[in-house]
Amino acid sequence: MSLTRIAFIGFGVVGQGLAEILVEQKEELSERYGFNFQVVAISDTMKGSVYDENGLHLQKILDIVKATGKINDYPEGIKGWDSQKTITETNANLIVEVSWTDIKTGEPAISHVKSAIKCYKHIVMTNKGPIALAVRELLAMAANNGVQVRFEGTVLSGTPAINLGLNNLAGVQISKVAGIVNGTTNYILTEMEKGLDYTSALKQAQELGYAEADPTADVEGFDALGKIVILANVVMNANLTKDEVSCQGITKITPQDIETAKQEGNRWKLIASAEIQSDGSVKAAVKPEKLPLEHPLAAVSGPINALTYTTKHLGEVTIIGPGAGRAATGYALLTDILDIHRTITRP
Ligand code: HSE
Repeated sequence: MSLTRIAFIGFGVVGQGLAEILVEQKEELSERYGFNFQVVAISDTMKGSVYDENGLHLQKILDIVKATGKINDYPEGIKGWDSQKTITETNANLIVEVSWTDIKTGEPAISHVKSAIKCYKHIVMTNKGPIALAVRELLAMAANNGVQVRFEGTVLSGTPAINLGLNNLAGVQISKVAGIVNGTTNYILTEMEKGLDYTSALKQAQELGYAEADPTADVEGFDALGKIVILANVVMNANLTKDEVSCQGITKITPQDIETAKQEGNRWKLIASAEIQSDGSVKAAVKPEKLPLEHPLAAVSGPINALTYTTKHLGEVTIIGPGAGRAATGYALLTDILDIHRTITRP
């Protein structure tokens, strides 16, 4: 029976979310899916790193990180390997890339992905940078080396928005995709409508693990921009760059705007959309829209996201579910890992 040896690059909210699921469901994953694993390495810029070729005690690491925040406090293993050394020199055969997202440069995550591919290691990620900026190049490299690059959690966290569009809706002819794709801003708008001020709502979204390391990316719309570029390029086969997408976040929406909308029977939502134009090109945008309360997206609140595919054969198909959060995004990585396991062990 094959053994998946996992290395984590980054061990923040999302990485720990996956680790908790792996600990909790280890037996079920083995019995039900034939998926057996060891976590052999973790490397995090802030928390330190540890490598043990025979496997780490994952619950012990989670406890240590909770208590001291320092992976180096783990009593065994080799310490001090940086992300590149962890990717290239450990015996891991699957890399979990959960370092921070930089939507402008994609780094250091793009380099992590390339190194993993060059070492013939599969890679799963929730990091939007590499996929928004370099998906074609990375998938071509991976195909060349016979490894898989998976990124379900880059859009709508564990809610399977990409798999739906890419696999389940294959051949359906998608002409448009639009919806609420950022959990932090949707949470803030929901809380502000209940009367909370912007700063407190953002602070809560950070404490609940919804926001990016730099929440500017959420509130200025860059996170949603990255996600709509991913959807356009991966699901609609477009070739958009982030600079071609007009982008406006929620920072200009005042409590007065929210109150006025409420009195009109409307609600503000940050909407990302991509649509095929008559000349075949794809145009995308991120902007706040005032929706009537009876609009289906108006009822999508808090960190919940929703995405509607407009298609030729099925009309509109909508998926609704968590868009951010520790377990929801950790789970996205698990679906990718299980999918790789299924693919490589299928007779
Ligand atoms: N910061 C992101 C959000 C996390 O709030 O949606 C999930 O991509």
